[in-house]
Amino acid sequence: METSCDDTSAAVVEDGRVLSNIVRSQTRLHRPYRGVVPELAARAHLERVIPAVERALKDAGGRGPDAVAYTRGPGLTGPLLVGAVAARTLARLMGVPAVGVNHLEGHVLACELEHRPRWPLVALVASGGHTDLILARAPGRYRVLGRTRDDAAGEAYDKVARLFGLPYPGGPEIDRLAAGGDPRAVAFPRPSVPGLDFSFSGLKTAVLYHLRDNPGPARGARLADLCASFQEAVAETLTEKAAAAARRCGARDIALGGGVAANSRLRARLSERCAALGLRALLPSRALCTDNAAMIAHAGARRLAAGAAPRAVRVDASLALASWA
Ligand code: KG4
Ligand code: ZN
Repeated sequence: METSCDDTSAAVVEDGRVLSNIVRSQTRLHRPYRGVVPELAARAHLERVIPAVERALKDAGGRGPDAVAYTRGPGLTGPLLVGAVAARTLARLMGVPAVGVNHLEGHVLACELEHRPRWPLVALVASGGHTDLILARAPGRYRVLGRTRDDAAGEAYDKVARLFGLPYPGGPEIDRLAAGGDPRAVAFPRPSVPGLDFSFSGLKTAVLYHLRDNPGPARGARLADLCASFQEAVAETLTEKAAAAARRCGARDIALGGGVAANSRLRARLSERCAALGLRALLPSRALCTDNAAMIAHAGARRLAAGAAPRAVRVDASLALASWA
């Protein structure tokens, strides 16, 4: 079960194969507020989680699960609590173990559901909540190499989309409009933080100043150019940092995860860059990039198999990614 943010998801996974993966998005619920409202999210999870679990079990067929995994953090506390209670109750009633999983570990290991990664790999997890570069030496052995110092990449997309007058969430809107624009139309700055950390607030401010200094409606061809130029700056930054991380760590594979991993320009650019460097870009399908329970079930199964299922019951909004003991 995955309920860390605004997607209610339940899935059944067996030996790295996805048997079912039900995702009930809350996007429409939060759209009027232009962001996720934690209490509304928690209430919506409460309504949706049991039907999602029923559907996932039904679609998977066969016998019941050997264990129930759920997201223990990081995420929003209320939503996390709903999933934890549902998962732990189900596990207790079925007489199977409950496994609390780190959400980021789910994103890192999601690539195993569709690819055969070569370890060590570098994972880039970019969503509305995080922008993290993670070195995974093997499943269960992680080091965070870099993260954003301010806005997450998806948050930058959402905030800039708002400046453009586009609806929430802005990532898919900008992606769609950028397809018809010129990425060289506006020279937005490339966020320049040394090392492998990220910063996107300067880019957001640059867009704001550009709109202020060039008044007039941002529509049609101009809007497409603005979207393409902004998108290029983000895709270039994410790609270059991920490639630098892979070079530094001797990784041959770069895995993408998080909502921004659905971005068409990022996928294309990372693929080109990896091909040029003799690396491989592991790009999960969209359903496994955005928040989903299949990746949580898979990470939980891996932990159980390794005897590394955490006993902790507590959910933690800012749970750090730790290696298995
Ligand atoms: O992983 P996710 O579904 O939820 C979390 O934030 O954890 O990611 C949602 C974020 C939003 O900020 C959304 O604007 C962004 O991912 N996003 C995209 C695209 N699709 C979703 N950003 C850029 N291009 C996209 N195609
Ligand atoms: Zn996520």
